[in-house]
Amino acid sequence: MFKVSLITRDGAAIAFDAEPSESLLDAAERSSIYLPSSCREGGCGACRVGREHGDVELLPYSSSALSDVERDSGDILLCRTQARSDLALRAPFDQAAVGFSPIPERQAVISEITPAGSGAVRLVLQYEDDAVFGRAAQFTAGQFVELSLPDGSVKRSYSLANTPNWDGTLEFYIRLQPNGAFSSYLKDRAALGDALLVRGPQGQFTADEASTAERWFVAGGTGLAPALSMLRQMAEFGDTRGCRLFFGVNRVDELFALDVIENLKNAMPQLIVATCVWKPETHWEDFVGTPAQALTRALTEAAERPDIYVCGPPPLIAATESAALAASVDHTRIFSERFTPA
Ligand code: FES
Repeated sequence: MFKVSLITRDGAAIAFDAEPSESLLDAAERSSIYLPSSCREGGCGACRVGREHGDVELLPYSSSALSDVERDSGDILLCRTQARSDLALRAPFDQAAVGFSPIPERQAVISEITPAGSGAVRLVLQYEDDAVFGRAAQFTAGQFVELSLPDGSVKRSYSLANTPNWDGTLEFYIRLQPNGAFSSYLKDRAALGDALLVRGPQGQFTADEASTAERWFVAGGTGLAPALSMLRQMAEFGDTRGCRLFFGVNRVDELFALDVIENLKNAMPQLIVATCVWKPETHWEDFVGTPAQALTRALTEAAERPDIYVCGPPPLIAATESAALAASVDHTRIFSERFTPA
């Protein structure tokens, strides 16, 4: 049995014991410590933490969950790592992201479902009154929840786009995957009033409130959702620090939530937005290229190194990390959430 100590981003110390035959994620849960995770099989990166010292065995995982840059800097996946000695770990999330009781499960009904560009939908759920939780939607901006179809047959994790609220409202932007089980439901069968099971909140992709640096958000497709959540939270808090949003899609007809971004710009005059289209099918006046390319250009002109929050498909995460590291952003100031197809 080995001793594992984990220091959260805001300095809280968490300790648990781990058998050499179990994952660190399972070991923590045996001690009723529920660390951020999602797939539990090395595919999503939600359980990534840094290793300060100690020996581990890293079981097979997807490179889309842990990039070579992250692995070489000492990062591990809690769900795929076994201890081989006492360990000291550094978490990229605050203590608030750690649960000390099982993740809540609640019912919510569909109150809105509308197209969001040519390849996604905007889904709004409403929590029903709950004897334990009341009606409120409690989460930290940037987190995700797992949704189960009414018959329980399919589960998918999606990031929230709105902010915590007493009304019990949950807003999502969901990319429609060709032949995806959840996507097929959303396209063909979902109806207002359908009840879905919501398991969450979960996830560690949240703003580092202890940092005073500028916040730059890099979002690919529906990876915009958690960026919107954190930006909306900043607007609600009256946060006046510098912030930027690099939002990218492949084609102009895939753009969505431009009205939400416009409202944010009105509420936060310091917000600078680059809306990036990789291969515009018509004339495009804003940035032509990827959000990582727009980030690269902006970093060359920036006087200070910002905190960078990137969310989207793995190639965008990798390109953003490369661009940020090349511009001397410390790797601990790059926060990422991968969107991987189920
Ligand atoms: S929970 Fe560990 S990689 Fe998904």
